[in-house]
Amino acid sequence: MLKNLKNFVTDSMAIDMGTANTIIAVKGRGVVLDEPSLVAVNEMTDEIVAYGREAADMSGREGRDLTVVAPLIGGVVGDFERTKRMLSHFVKTAKTGGKNVALQAVMSIVSDVTHVEQRALTNAADDAGIGKIFLMEEGLAAAFGAGVLPSDKRAAAVVDIGAATTNIAFVAKGSIIFSTSDRHGSNAINESLATHLRRHRGIQVGEETTELLKTKFASAYLPDDISKTVEVRGRDVQTRSPAAVEITSGEVYPIVEGIVRRIAERIKDSLTELRPEVAADIYDRGVILTGGGALLDGIDKYLRSYINLPVTIADEPRYATVNGLVKMFEDHELLDRVSLSELRVLQNAEPHFEV
Ligand SMILES: Nc1ncnc2c1ncn2[C@@H]1O[C@H](COP(=O)(O)OP(=O)(O)OP(=O)(O)O)[C@@H](O)[C@H]1O
Ligand SMILES: [Mg+2]
Repeated sequence: MLKNLKNFVTDSMAIDMGTANTIIAVKGRGVVLDEPSLVAVNEMTDEIVAYGREAADMSGREGRDLTVVAPLIGGVVGDFERTKRMLSHFVKTAKTGGKNVALQAVMSIVSDVTHVEQRALTNAADDAGIGKIFLMEEGLAAAFGAGVLPSDKRAAAVVDIGAATTNIAFVAKGSIIFSTSDRHGSNAINESLATHLRRHRGIQVGEETTELLKTKFASAYLPDDISKTVEVRGRDVQTRSPAAVEITSGEVYPIVEGIVRRIAERIKDSLTELRPEVAADIYDRGVILTGGGALLDGIDKYLRSYINLPVTIADEPRYATVNGLVKMFEDHELLDRVSLSELRVLQNAEPHFEV
């Protein structure tokens, strides 16, 4: 098998198709694609007119016939047809040039994904021209990407805070010991901020505004200066006219803290499910954070004081999963062991379509 593979040019691709971002790395080339998981659709013709960043740039300011959709909302293959097209487009963009380049890929899936969803993913991969697809649990990929070694006998805890899901995994000897996922991630902060502004400040704001507020102004710890202000703009709820309000860091903090506390509680609960030896390992090593949600200012500090254990943020937390996936191509035996069963692409299960 291995010998055969060497005779062909094969792109080995790692795909982390998240609700918010799709990240693709190619063995030997590192991360080659990092784009929002969005498509812009012409409502009249149902055609996709833009993908990824280009679609994101249209978001919130769409024309009459155009909508920007996130086909994966909820962390699963929600809008199958559009997910397929989006994946095909990204794979094509990421691929090394040349027609006769064979393609194998490893993709991550959340641990509670159903068989139907798993099938939909392998199907989508088939349509994207991927000859061979491996599926791997996200928690394991994130752990390997965060530097946990597959040979390590001692247990490690990895918490991936994505846009729509928080995935908590305990890993030892290259396998998952226990994992749990909550369909609640960093985007819950954006939603809470938008709700607060609408209800209490009478202003409706868009996704771009809440994202800026979260990433540039908010923090997971009580700010030293709670009277620091920032202006947010949007639409007045009552008059429907353009409007702006000033919001203070003291007002933003409890909103953010509410969501971060929920994540902290989930981690704390999961820590009570461990066997004594595993608990002992985690007591020493603490918890590693991955995913974009780990970039929230001070989240490590907050979690550290909540669970009373060391908490560290992985290098390049947004790329931990994809980095872990791409590492699998260095060790085919490990790849075969960790990838989930029923992996063969369902050949010709669906008619092929061109992108
Ligand atoms: N600097 C930052 N501060 C706070 N949050 C951030 C920052 N950068 C990114 N995020 C948040 O991280 C989330 C995206 O993370 P990530 O790319 O890991 O999600 P995903 O893998 O697409 O989602 P999921 O795993 O839930 O399907 C978004 O909610 C985004 O707002
Ligand atoms: Mg993710």
